[in-house]
Amino acid sequence: MRPNQSVGIFDSGIGGLSVVQHIRDLLPAESLIYVSDRAHLPYGTKDKQFILDRTVHITDFLMQQNVKAIVIACNTATAIAVADLRRTLPIPIIGMEPGLKPAAARSHNGLIGVLATEGTLDSGKFKRLMHQHANSAEVIICPCHGWVEAIEHDGLNNTHTIELVEQQLQPILDKGVDTLVLGCTHYPFVRDIIQRVAGESVTIIDTGLAVAKHLQKRLAEEGILSTNQVPGSESYWCSAPTEKTRELIEKLQGKSCVINSLPIAVNND
Ligand code: DGL
Repeated sequence: MRPNQSVGIFDSGIGGLSVVQHIRDLLPAESLIYVSDRAHLPYGTKDKQFILDRTVHITDFLMQQNVKAIVIACNTATAIAVADLRRTLPIPIIGMEPGLKPAAARSHNGLIGVLATEGTLDSGKFKRLMHQHANSAEVIICPCHGWVEAIEHDGLNNTHTIELVEQQLQPILDKGVDTLVLGCTHYPFVRDIIQRVAGESVTIIDTGLAVAKHLQKRLAEEGILSTNQVPGSESYWCSAPTEKTRELIEKLQGKSCVINSLPIAVNND
């Protein structure tokens, strides 16, 4: 295998950047190629076949970029496509899932709220995960309608975004949950709002760091961790017009970046 290959990362939009932050901190020497499928978000309300097709188009593109591993920085796409991608692609595929296990370990009263998209919550993968924890916790799900669109289109501190979070969180807080799982990679960007609404006594679980550690472990196992002494590069690709994505990413990361348009073929539904 050629040295200095990149790690490919993708999500429906900017959500996966909440995972990129952890990967950057843990693995500064890795070069990253990030794909935002903004033209097709939200994934959470789309049917299974659509998500499968999108993941095939995007991972084909990443394979053409000669990536050495792929992180599906999206709970919804992982729930639907990770098994197929692992079967068909010859490189490590790192997925993510709502952190029910750490939540069950942290919860004192056994009442756990899971914030995720409809697609994740309806998936067989999530139902199996719930079943595994059924003895140690009662799981109350919240399909967070409109959160992804609000985060992408309205912004993080926008009144509409804050109202959506407040309104949809309250019913599950009223049920007494003491632990909340962020089961969508967009939600860490509204973590402060969630914590404020829930109160300081509620524990919030985000699996971004665990995913970065798992990537590190898999790269080490395969002997493909970057040994570069200089920071890795980053390149960004988007399926929608790039300007809005550039603005969002620059705001989140506090530095300027260049966004490339994905080739037309990757955009076809
Ligand atoms: N950020 C994604 C996730 O983790 C997808 C959200 C969406 O596009 O609905 O599920």
